[in-house]
Amino acid sequence: MHIDPADHVRKAIRSVPNWPKPGITFRDITPVLQDPRSFRVLIDLFVYRYMRQRLDLVAGVDARGFILGSVLAYELNLGFVPVRKKGKLPFDTVAEEYSLEYGNATVEMHTDSVRPGQRVLLIDDLIATGGTMVAASKLLQRLGANVVEAAAIIDLPYLGGSTALKETGLDIYTVCS
Ligand code: PRP
Ligand code: ADE
Repeated sequence: MHIDPADHVRKAIRSVPNWPKPGITFRDITPVLQDPRSFRVLIDLFVYRYMRQRLDLVAGVDARGFILGSVLAYELNLGFVPVRKKGKLPFDTVAEEYSLEYGNATVEMHTDSVRPGQRVLLIDDLIATGGTMVAASKLLQRLGANVVEAAAIIDLPYLGGSTALKETGLDIYTVCS
């Protein structure tokens, strides 16, 4: 029997109520990563989508975007660059502050992580308010990158993030919502 790959991934995502704060339902992707079949189905969805996009780099967002982005970059034979939370990168950085579903944060990138004109895929596990992806794409654009698409496993459409991201002109791809 054929199972839609996105359904396969969706079924493996765990919802944890009231974490990290009361009222938040946290979408936990660790079961997807833990199961070799789900992990491969997920990464293959991204590989087939991006294998003909003439990308130069994959940029992954701290922390779960690192897991997805580094495996995807390896499979596509591309370099990987991290978009890190404040204070973790040792060299010269650019920074953007943003707000999330449960607080505020700042992301940083090394100033030499992208060359002007490079075609970059931005990846994270989830789009909630979209604040993280907007901040990360602003950093990439400040460095001169061409952000080809912002990709995630999960969109939480009721938080309006993907709509807000599209309004900034970014193309978005998510596996499920
Ligand atoms: C989560 C998630 C995304 C972000 C999405 O990370 O992994 O990066 O929130 O939210 P947004 O669309 O409202 O910006 P979090 O900031 O909790 O950090 P972590 O990866 O360190 O847990
Ligand atoms: N980041 C922001 N909101 C989230 C949620 N509900 N689940 C997982 N990560 C998140």
